[in-house]
Amino acid sequence: MGRLVLDNLKLSLGGKPILNNVSIDFWDGHVHAVVGPNGAGKSTLAATIVGLGGYTDVDGDITFDGESICSLSVDERARKGITLAWQEPARFEGLTIRDFIKASAHGNGVDVDAILEQVGLDPGSYRSRAVDKTLSGGERKKVELASILAMKPKVALLDEPDSGIDIESIERIFDAVRLLKEQGATVILITHSLAVLNQAEHAFLMCHGKVVDKGPVAKIRHYFEDKCIPCDHKNTPEVYDLGGQV
Ligand SMILES: Nc1ncnc2c1ncn2[C@@H]1O[C@H](COP(=O)(O)OP(=O)(O)O)[C@@H](O)[C@H]1O
Ligand SMILES: [Mg+2]
Repeated sequence: MGRLVLDNLKLSLGGKPILNNVSIDFWDGHVHAVVGPNGAGKSTLAATIVGLGGYTDVDGDITFDGESICSLSVDERARKGITLAWQEPARFEGLTIRDFIKASAHGNGVDVDAILEQVGLDPGSYRSRAVDKTLSGGERKKVELASILAMKPKVALLDEPDSGIDIESIERIFDAVRLLKEQGATVILITHSLAVLNQAEHAFLMCHGKVVDKGPVAKIRHYFEDKCIPCDHKNTPEVYDLGGQV
C-alpha cells in the first residue's frame, strides 16, 4: 500500500501554466526521485500532491491506492499518510523537540532519543531545546526529518533534502531515507542534486512542467552529466543551465 498515481495533472499559477499533463506512477515501497533544473515545477508538484492552499485548482487526477484524493483537504491527505517535509514548521514553533516528535507520532509509541540519533542529533543536547529560530537551517531540517520518521508515513515527499545540510550530515539524511523505505514508505526525493538522485531507485526528469524522461537512476543520471535535457525547449538554453548545482 502507498501507490500514488498522477494522471494528466495540469495546474496554472497566476495565469501561467506550471504543470503540463504530468503523469507519474510512484509505485509503492520504492525510492523515487523527481529531478530537473530550477523552475521545472518540482516544488509545485509536491505542493499539488499534498494539496496545499493555492495548489488545489488542478485538472487531471491524483489517486492514492486507487482512490482519488483531489477533493481531500491537506489535513485529510496527511491523515492518509501523505507527508511533505518542511511544510508547516510554524505550527510547531516553541514546542520542545521531544514534544514535537511525540506529537508527530500521533499517539503511537516513539523512542525520541533513538530517532534523534538516527538523524544525527545528540539527544542530550537537543531533546529539551525548543523548535524555534535558535536552530540553524540544517538542525531544523534534521528535526523535521525526525518528525517524519516518527509519523511512519505511507508517502514521504522530501523537497531538496540536502539543502542547508553540511556534508557529514547529508549521509544521516540518506540513512533516514533508507529507514523510511524499510518502514514500507513510498519515498519521493525532489532534487536538482546528483548526490540525492543517487539515493533513488527510479527517477522522473521534469523540464518546463513536463515529465520529459523516466527510468532507472543510471539512465537519468546521464542527463545531469551532459547538462542537457531533451524536451520541447531546445532553443532556450537557460532552462538547461544547472548552474553548477549538480
Ligand atoms: N505562486 C506562483 N505564481 C506564479 N508562478 C509561480 C508560483 N509559484 C511558482 N511559480 C513558477 O512556477 C515555476 C516552477 O516553480 P517551482 O515549482 O518552484 O520549480 P522547482 O521546484 O522545480 O525549482 C517557476 O517558473 C516559478 O516561477
Ligand atoms: Mg523547488
